[in-house]
Amino acid sequence: MRRMVAGNWKMNMLADGAAQLAGELRRGAGEPGCELLVCPPATVLAAVAHALLGSVCQVGAQDCHAEASGAHTGDLAAPMLRDAGATHVILGHSERRANHGETDAMVLAKVRAATRAGLVPVVCVGETLAEREGGWAESVVAGQLAGSLPHGFGQSGMAGLVAYEPVWAIGTGRTPTEADIAAMHAAIRHRVGPSVRILYGGSVKPGNAAAILALPEVGGALVGGASLDARSFLAIAAACPA
Ligand code: PGA
Repeated sequence: MRRMVAGNWKMNMLADGAAQLAGELRRGAGEPGCELLVCPPATVLAAVAHALLGSVCQVGAQDCHAEASGAHTGDLAAPMLRDAGATHVILGHSERRANHGETDAMVLAKVRAATRAGLVPVVCVGETLAEREGGWAESVVAGQLAGSLPHGFGQSGMAGLVAYEPVWAIGTGRTPTEADIAAMHAAIRHRVGPSVRILYGGSVKPGNAAAILALPEVGGALVGGASLDARSFLAIAAACPA
């Protein structure tokens, strides 16, 4: 399966910076050995999608509402994101689970909404440091998968990816050992079946990308901080094994 390197810009980038980064990605991407996706904030999504139109770089959103329209002040529906040029949407990121109280049931409803709108969901799961140290990492992730993924996820007619992002590795510069990443990806593979790409996320940088991307069952990377710089994002993409 072709790997995917996805950039999560989070709550960063005004119009000028987004246009510059999109331009650098467009010019610098060449013919990558993996799929490329960038997920800018919603305010610049349409502009970034326009700037990357016809390039190798796809564009995604960072969240969506579970309903297709209605009285939900400040929220964004999946069809709106599709309309703005998104092909993918990140769902259940740990920052949304922690900062907005998103439960597995809420993530599941969003996954269904995204699928109905023709967006490919990238569903994030991952344990906290206390959960890892307590020895519950795999059971926590198994519970998140069971609660967040609809039946048939990732099979024909319902494209989807999973991103394993240990909460304690996000933005910290810390990563699990390669053995721990491989073990968790094997456990996730066991639950999601053969056709779902499983990305690793959490402090992926140009310096550690090649080792992580070469691990069994690692189908790509979800990159936060390092995706805000075109050179480092494209260096991570270039680290994908052929
Ligand atoms: P990071 O973020 O690469 O800055 O650790 C990853 C993520 O939250 O998706």
